[in-house]
Amino acid sequence: MASDLVYLNGKILPRSEALVPVEDRGFVFGDGVYEVLRVVQGRFFAADFHNERLKRSLAGIRIEIPANYAPEKLNEIAAELLRANSQLDGEATVYMQVTRGVATRAHAFPSPAVAPTVYISTAAFKPMTRLQEDGTLAVTHPDLRWARCDYKTINLLPNILASQYAAEQGATEAILIRDDEITEGAKTNVFGVLDGALRTHPCNSHILPGITRSVVETLASGLNVAIDHTPIKKSDIPKLQELFISGTTTDVMPVVALDGKPVGDGKPGPITRRLQKILNESIYSSAPLGD
Ligand code: PDD
Repeated sequence: MASDLVYLNGKILPRSEALVPVEDRGFVFGDGVYEVLRVVQGRFFAADFHNERLKRSLAGIRIEIPANYAPEKLNEIAAELLRANSQLDGEATVYMQVTRGVATRAHAFPSPAVAPTVYISTAAFKPMTRLQEDGTLAVTHPDLRWARCDYKTINLLPNILASQYAAEQGATEAILIRDDEITEGAKTNVFGVLDGALRTHPCNSHILPGITRSVVETLASGLNVAIDHTPIKKSDIPKLQELFISGTTTDVMPVVALDGKPVGDGKPGPITRRLQKILNESIYSSAPLGD
């Protein structure tokens, strides 16, 4: 049986012994960033993209991490942790979080700087195959987030409230609306098909540059599916032929009804299906870690 070990500030230890001081700025202010990676048979999917995004998020909120905590090093630690948790076989996710560290509460950065808090955990993972097959339900919700959604910060309150609203409506995802346009989901990116073209919000500070989103775009180009970065307007919603969400733990998941109304003919659409299939091939086809 897999043991429940985590990594905290240089040590692999049982989860129950991994304790963070109450003055950690992650606890007090949500002052930190994170990544979630997908692992299949010990192989990290799109690790380079996740590493680049982590560096960008860290730089964006001005956390400097020492070389021994560079994202590539964190991947090595995560691999060691997966091994220690007997999770190199099958599927898993890796959660990596870096906060600005522990200091007496004051809004501005601690001066002199303190060591960042580095936390990594792993979990066994089961893809949501049923929802991917049948499609899922989503609801719209106002996008109440700040103006730097492109940094993957642990400040997730608007995402949490939107997700809770979705859960209460029996939906899997909340699709966020800012200025009458779909930005993304509370924990996914959003794609629609309108007039045969794939539409998704441009990569700017209003969305997270999703790794799955970028892989899906590359795969779509390979299939000669046109991509249009004009955001989907609220008024476009009734005209959508297809709609799907993408993310590390979601893959490509068709949305068959939005706010209780069917999308297209209420079934997963053909473009969604093709992208879903080749994304799965790309996730499951590569060689295991170390090969
Ligand atoms: N969420 N948009 C938001 C707001 C997200 O939180 C996520 C990922 C995505 C999809 O990004 P990616 O394809 O890189 O996973 C888009 C992670 C999985 C989470 O918070 O658990």
